[in-house]
Amino acid sequence: MSDTNTTRMPANIRHGSSIGQPLTRRDGLLKVTGRARYAADNHPPGMLYAVCAVSTISRGRVTALDVAAAKAHPGVVEVMTPANRPAVAHDPDEKSGMFDFKLDLLQSDHVRYANQPIAVVIAETFEAAVEGATLLAPRYEIETPRVGLDAGESFAPPVVGVGLPTETHHGDIGAGLAGAAHRIDATYETPAQYHNQLEPHAVVAVWDGDNVVIDTPTQGLGIMQDRIARLLDIPHENIHIRSPFLGGGFGGKGLVAGPQLLGIIAARMVGRPVKLVLPRDQMFGMVGHRAPTRQKLRLGSDADGHLTAIEHHTHTASSTYDDFYEAAAEIAHVLYASPNIATAHTAVRLDTGTPTFMRAPGEAPGSLALESAIDEMAEACGMDPLAFRLANYAETDPISGKPYSSKALRECYAQGAARFGWAGRPLASRQTRDENGLLVGWGMGTATYPAHMFQGKARAVIRRDGSGLVETGAHDMGQGAWTALAQIAADGLALPMDRLEFRAGSSDLPDAGIAGGSGHTATVGMAIHNAGAAVIARLAELAMRDERSPLFGAGNAGLAARDGRLHRLDDESRSESYSEILARAGLDEVDGSGTGAADEATHEAYAMHAHGAVFAEVKVDPDLGQIRVSRMVGAFAAGRIINPHLVRSQYYGGMIWGISFALHERAIIDPRTGRPMNTNLAEYQVPVNADVPSLEAIIVDEVDPHVNALGIKGVGEIGITGSAGAIANAVYHATGIRVRQFPISLDRTMSAAA
Ligand code: MOS
Repeated sequence: MSDTNTTRMPANIRHGSSIGQPLTRRDGLLKVTGRARYAADNHPPGMLYAVCAVSTISRGRVTALDVAAAKAHPGVVEVMTPANRPAVAHDPDEKSGMFDFKLDLLQSDHVRYANQPIAVVIAETFEAAVEGATLLAPRYEIETPRVGLDAGESFAPPVVGVGLPTETHHGDIGAGLAGAAHRIDATYETPAQYHNQLEPHAVVAVWDGDNVVIDTPTQGLGIMQDRIARLLDIPHENIHIRSPFLGGGFGGKGLVAGPQLLGIIAARMVGRPVKLVLPRDQMFGMVGHRAPTRQKLRLGSDADGHLTAIEHHTHTASSTYDDFYEAAAEIAHVLYASPNIATAHTAVRLDTGTPTFMRAPGEAPGSLALESAIDEMAEACGMDPLAFRLANYAETDPISGKPYSSKALRECYAQGAARFGWAGRPLASRQTRDENGLLVGWGMGTATYPAHMFQGKARAVIRRDGSGLVETGAHDMGQGAWTALAQIAADGLALPMDRLEFRAGSSDLPDAGIAGGSGHTATVGMAIHNAGAAVIARLAELAMRDERSPLFGAGNAGLAARDGRLHRLDDESRSESYSEILARAGLDEVDGSGTGAADEATHEAYAMHAHGAVFAEVKVDPDLGQIRVSRMVGAFAAGRIINPHLVRSQYYGGMIWGISFALHERAIIDPRTGRPMNTNLAEYQVPVNADVPSLEAIIVDEVDPHVNALGIKGVGEIGITGSAGAIANAVYHATGIRVRQFPISLDRTMSAAA
């Protein structure tokens, strides 16, 4: 396995001692010993248990609830329904921005998807609440649900993803296809996937007058606080959200979900602390999912294997009442070069909960279809898939012509291919068997994900005892942010890790924005970096203005901070410790604040993405069609690597999701009722250990001088892109069968039997 030498970079003097180290996660011991307190681990005195009763239909109206029967249960304290739910300050169906997803807060008796909350039962025990919910025995007026991508009128959404254009056009796609020597016209389908973090959505709410303390997992403390403040019409500062640990986020905890608010409202209603935790089956509806897609790819290539046309059309679905559109065609205009490119999205409205962000939203299903089509085109051109990609990847942004801030894709291809041993690959499919007679296939895919930054703030303090404190409302979803950001903080204050206190995960800290879009480390990292610079500048000023300091008169540019001391750059022997400076100034501490955000001008000038290449080997049983991934190598370049240990783990997670995407994961929706049928982790299949081979993730050196001052790109989502396609292409290479419906199922590869 290749390791990066991140210290080889000419880092500025304060950076490089903690950044780049493969430290184990600071929360690791707490987690493996069960001492990390997740939201549902909180049991404040007098706490009641709330359970949602959910709709068993997906479209219609609740006509009756036997509230009396539920209330007659000795353990039941209250039943909250649309009839008695306390008023909220604004309509949960009102949108004041793209991130105000409509919420189901018992505002009416209408049912718009299966597993929608229709009542909340609050009881002394969890068991009583569950029983109470059963006693409600709802009756419905049922309407015929709209299920599947053809169940309604197709329309072009105004925007897709988070405000992206629905269509892009570059050149003349018709001419590019007409003049092509080789053409691919293929349709790929990906299923709905439902958010299933190990830790389901959970909330414990404790009110004290108009103040509320909320324990709940979130990827966006500030956004959640704001939505709660507006809905309940209480000041932001009255709302304290604690979210120190998340058992996974993946986009499903990016925004406040209905059940979290129902728990908060329920607690206020009964005047006692309330806990509400979603059982696994209730994860399939009210907390968002990745929408299904049908993607049509038309590619053209000239006789030399250069793409002359890339057309990518995605048809997807949103709910009947709100808008989120999986931007799966986005990837087709950022990765491969072609004089003619067209991307477009259409959608249909279904009786389903509103889709939402899920790990690499857009890019994950889009990359699977695009990389499959590219593989088909390489074959049509008689070229090795890697050679074809090398001939076609874009040197500048394919549409705008902007240069990339950096692009180490060629290195990713080279290192990944070398490590995998790609050079020995037979060009034709169905050529290789292993010692047990299994068909062996090799496939590859290109990975890419945009380098996003959002808005985040941090505060840094240096104390008289020479220690430091950095505070930011950042989120550790399990990805290791609490460790990686602390490494940036330590370097930002020029202190060793053990002299630094790092606080995150609470809404009373500076708002760190959202942990999503693979932008958290860059955004909050820059906020911390800037806060550190601010506090050190204050210390430097104190020292340089003081005649008694060896740094007197050094001039701001002439000092460097290192290991808790400020040094004169022109004379290293003249230095002073933080403690000495503060003691002489008679101060207990100095502090400084910093903001992290994308620099607009730089984003205008450059295209910014992380890149990678993934290689996969599968083995397929020629009699049973059973597919096993036997090997995967990914090589990724994502700018400066803060912690190679954690980053590699992010890549592994993405690659495993790629396996899931290609071979396992799908929600099966009953076409008669619109209900998800596999609402448990036995039947909603995700890869388990036996499905995951030895993975290798190579960290490819990349210095990006533009993306931000720290050179950080994101690593959370890119691992899925490329990976799913690599596996699908390997299945083809093994069997000679192109499966374009995902996940690839045995019945399709079974015909590999010869
Ligand atoms: Mo992600 S879908 O931004 O957690």
